[in-house]
Amino acid sequence: MSIFSRRIFSNLCKLPILQVANRSLIKETNFRYFSEDIPNEKFELADKVAVIVGGAGEIGYSIAHTFLRNGVNNVSILDKDVTKGEEAVDKLVQKFGNSKAIFYETEITDSKNVDAALRNTILHLNGIDIVVNCAGIFNDSKWEEQIQTNMIGTVVTTLLGLQHMSSSGPGHGGIVVNVASIMGVIPSLGYPLHTMTQYGIVGFSRALGCSDQYNRTKVKIVGYCPGPTDTKLFRDAANNSINPNFSTEFLQEIDGCVVQKPEKVAEGLCLVMETAKSGSIWVAENNDTPYEVRFPEVTAVNAKTSQAAIN
Ligand SMILES: NC(=O)c1ccc[n+]([C@@H]2O[C@H](COP(=O)([O-])OP(=O)(O)OC[C@H]3O[C@@H](n4cnc5c(N)ncnc54)[C@H](O)[C@@H]3O)[C@@H](O)[C@H]2O)c1
Repeated sequence: MSIFSRRIFSNLCKLPILQVANRSLIKETNFRYFSEDIPNEKFELADKVAVIVGGAGEIGYSIAHTFLRNGVNNVSILDKDVTKGEEAVDKLVQKFGNSKAIFYETEITDSKNVDAALRNTILHLNGIDIVVNCAGIFNDSKWEEQIQTNMIGTVVTTLLGLQHMSSSGPGHGGIVVNVASIMGVIPSLGYPLHTMTQYGIVGFSRALGCSDQYNRTKVKIVGYCPGPTDTKLFRDAANNSINPNFSTEFLQEIDGCVVQKPEKVAEGLCLVMETAKSGSIWVAENNDTPYEVRFPEVTAVNAKTSQAAIN
């Protein structure tokens, strides 16, 4: 299915029809991923300290701005772009006051670098409650860098954020939001390699967000998947696919799509964070209120046991 058919997919996601597992046929399995097991504890943004990885970028900056407007106490921006990072902090400080925002130059694929930025944030802001991973690239022609940034970078920032916020470690719980894209739930035919990285982020967030991990650490892991959003990264994308054939495919896919505003993506994220269960995946598209994706609860193991039940 291409992102063109996403409207149909969106509607399907909201219907129970995608929960195709016939629970009566599901026997014992080693896979225990059932969302019913995951506690639903409300998360308040007020007075929290948030790290926005990629906060110098357009969506990341909107998230930082919207967080401060919604009562978050401080934001720490981690990004490799020093000029944009410092500009972002200047704007936030002018609007919300001194010490509300700080910036650390950070390369997210470098775990020592990320760890140092998180430790400095904790030192200056007395802890961390939120990590939003919003750094990424959208460029299949630089596919190795894209895999490094989108996948390795997300793993590094998620695991270190989790470690610093864990209630079984030095923290008192919190939330990690991994920003993927709608291509993490619907493959893009024009962007197969980007699709792979986004499916990776979604699968990682679902697996790590499982109830056992949450119960141990009190850190929620949530995936957030915006549709096309009006930033330079998106506007340049047709020039950065594998070759002209894939560019044509991508342009056809996005033809007629609503290209939403970064501010809407940020506002939607605040709503999602309040109620999202750990391990849940959300889509924000068309400037609308985000909705949770409902995945089929079947696995290869379940399929085998179902077949055994029939035999
Ligand atoms: N714009 C869209 O249509 C759209 C849709 C869905 C998802 N997304 C995702 O949202 C995120 C933000 O997108 P955006 O449109 O704001 O793009 P952007 O380019 O404005 O922001 C990305 C930020 O990530 C930073 N970054 C990139 N690689 C880095 C690295 N290795 N280390 C540290 N920082 C790094 C960049 O410097 C930049 O500030 C991306 O992950 C993107 O894939 C974007």
